[in-house]
Amino acid sequence: MTLNISPGDLRRMKQARRAAALTGAGVSAESGVPTFRGKDGLWRSFRAEDLATPEAFARDPKLVWEWYDWRRSLIAPLAPNPGHYALAQMEKIFPRFTLITQNVDGLHRAAGSTAPVEMHGNIWLTRCVREGSICENRQAPLPEIPPRCPGCGALLRPHIVWFGESLDPDVLEQAFTAAREAELFFVIGTAAAVQPAASLVGIAKEHGAMVVEVNVEETPVTHLADVSLRGPSGKILPELVNLLQSA
Ligand code: OAD
Repeated sequence: MTLNISPGDLRRMKQARRAAALTGAGVSAESGVPTFRGKDGLWRSFRAEDLATPEAFARDPKLVWEWYDWRRSLIAPLAPNPGHYALAQMEKIFPRFTLITQNVDGLHRAAGSTAPVEMHGNIWLTRCVREGSICENRQAPLPEIPPRCPGCGALLRPHIVWFGESLDPDVLEQAFTAAREAELFFVIGTAAAVQPAASLVGIAKEHGAMVVEVNVEETPVTHLADVSLRGPSGKILPELVNLLQSA
């Protein structure tokens, strides 16, 4: 695949000292993780309000956990794809690089990204509803549903941001700071349909960043992109890293 990037645009990308990327479910699609809004997307077969809201969990924690247990079991055997590895390499290419992800699958970390800003949480973490303590739990399937806090016996919930909930203020601050300060901002594999994540693209642009989009199709933020690369991120990103590393 030859990327359609002009020499001027490539020069500008290489000159960036502060870069950031916002990723979405599309980055993990080639690893086999289902996306949310595409043809086979999760929100085509499931109603978010039944499964991914605090009200749903209060009503039926077992049902909510069965769904997360199914997703955890589906993701557990999957591996990062070349797109994840290319993003991990970007930490070595740019003096400062912040990876912001909406994904909860943990595949960026598995590929070697050192400190991904996980805006929507992580499916491998649980949180005690009483104490708020966060623990890693990689068992899939879980032996007991719903799982309970080993310390106090209260229910555990997935450490994931549900519809109607606020994002962690520290995580939000990291993401917004990276967007404001970026000279180069990648938006990759996201339908840009969920706020506040999608607004990061406009914020980066307003603060002067060059915006590069990688997606198989157009999105609501395509008009903000200085460069649009159409195609699967697992193919495009390794190619892009090669170009950025070339003399
Ligand atoms: P979506 O499923 O809404 O969008 C996936 C995007 O990836 C679409 O724009 C596709 O065109 C694109 N895409 C698919 N395959 C691709 C590939 N191989 N390479 C590049 N692009 C590809 O997923 P998100 O935008 O991540 O929230 O969804 C955002 C949030 O909505 C999720 O984090 C989740 C969901 O509700 C929570 O769980 C809190």
